[in-house]
Amino acid sequence: MSGQPTKIMLDESEIPRRWYNLLADLPAPPPPVLHPGTLQPVGPDDLAPLFPMALIGQEVSTDRYIDIPEPVLDVYRLWRPSPLYRAHRLEKALGTPAKLFYKYEGVSPAGSHKPNTAVAQAYYNAEAGIRRLTTETGAGQWGTALAFACAQFGLACEVWQVRASYDQKPYRKIMIETFGGTIHPSPSDLTAAGRKVLAEHPDSPGSLGIAISEAVEVAAQHADTNYALGSVLNHVLLHQTVIGEEALLQFAKVGMTPDLIVGCTGGGSNFAGLTFPFLREKLAGKSDVTIRAVEPAACPSLTKGVYAYDFGDTAGMTPLLKMHTLGHDFIPDPIHAGGLRYHGMSPLISHIYELGLIEAVAKTQLECFEAGVRFARTEGIVPAPEPTHALAACIEEALRCKETGEEKVILTALCGHGHLDLAAYGTYLAGEMVDRELSDEAIAAAVAALPQVAAH
Ligand SMILES: Cc1ncc(COP(=O)(O)O)c(C=O)c1O
Repeated sequence: MSGQPTKIMLDESEIPRRWYNLLADLPAPPPPVLHPGTLQPVGPDDLAPLFPMALIGQEVSTDRYIDIPEPVLDVYRLWRPSPLYRAHRLEKALGTPAKLFYKYEGVSPAGSHKPNTAVAQAYYNAEAGIRRLTTETGAGQWGTALAFACAQFGLACEVWQVRASYDQKPYRKIMIETFGGTIHPSPSDLTAAGRKVLAEHPDSPGSLGIAISEAVEVAAQHADTNYALGSVLNHVLLHQTVIGEEALLQFAKVGMTPDLIVGCTGGGSNFAGLTFPFLREKLAGKSDVTIRAVEPAACPSLTKGVYAYDFGDTAGMTPLLKMHTLGHDFIPDPIHAGGLRYHGMSPLISHIYELGLIEAVAKTQLECFEAGVRFARTEGIVPAPEPTHALAACIEEALRCKETGEEKVILTALCGHGHLDLAAYGTYLAGEMVDRELSDEAIAAAVAALPQVAAH
């Protein structure tokens, strides 16, 4: 079609050898992470019960580049570099003059971008002598990724999966167990945090915030156990930048640069991974790309939350993070994009949103699934529910270009496939899916419940 390639591939030798740290290039540093007791910035010792020093160092580093250790690169070679696709068939179906591209991370062992950081985190923990990692998972993608990564480095892996997703996606449990991990629905009666929620709400659908509390609690109680987070924190976003670095090389091969990049945001890691290297180019005056985050209307932390200090988890065990938040005890409706049901947004993404470096929009799930089905029928990949948000925004823009005649180059993060999310597609195709948009009253109530401490 059109003489242009459909897949833009890189050689294995072109896998990036360093991660890119946006903190080195920002015009202003983000606000510090605070200790909830003292309200002073946290130091490495505060984080040491949960994370190895190498990752704590990366969390606060301002070095522009951080070398990727060889054992991590060696595991990356199982699926990296990932392909960049030109969506010729979708373009044709839409009748748009826009040029649509998607960077596909569904080729990884877990089926999403999550192993890019899971492998790095498992490696640094194994190097530090840790024997077990605990974590939360929403959609199940992150839990699968960490179970896979732990298997690569001989670690045990224990996962708390948000109850709503655990019930919706039974095959994720089997996949995590196949990789050697252990999985519990959250809230569970295995932790004080879980028992407290169950006592008040026995039918709780769970939330990422609750599952984080459970995983953090267990890690904090055992010296040989650390906690791993699949999004939100600086070091997680850092590890994902291999996506954008590859995409830059791939665009250079076809002599183009994107005018617009759209990505879905749960905690912000796939979005950051794809966009931060492009943002580096923009900050250096080498591009004028527009960068747009897309979140669910049922959990609109960037577009409707407040920018305030809040806990990362529901029980209030984590340090205080300055971020766009709906309040740490906000429980989003059980939409099918489980990976986007997080009450807050990465502090780094929140900061660059405040600086005006990115835009944000919210989409309802029916529009997203419509986009996902359209994409599957043209491009042949069934997307995970999370990136259908990015696809919906991409299609919206492509149709706008149809009106204006603009030949805009649009890049989308297709951060995972939806092969284990088919029940959600079944619900959509049966006409049984409902839109869940959060009312202004519900948002006001959620935000009003922010703890006093959050006002500091
Ligand atoms: C496929 C997929 N996309 C996106 C997300 C959202 O996370 P993030 O915003 O960190 O990329 C998840 C989280 O579980 C996911 O599984």
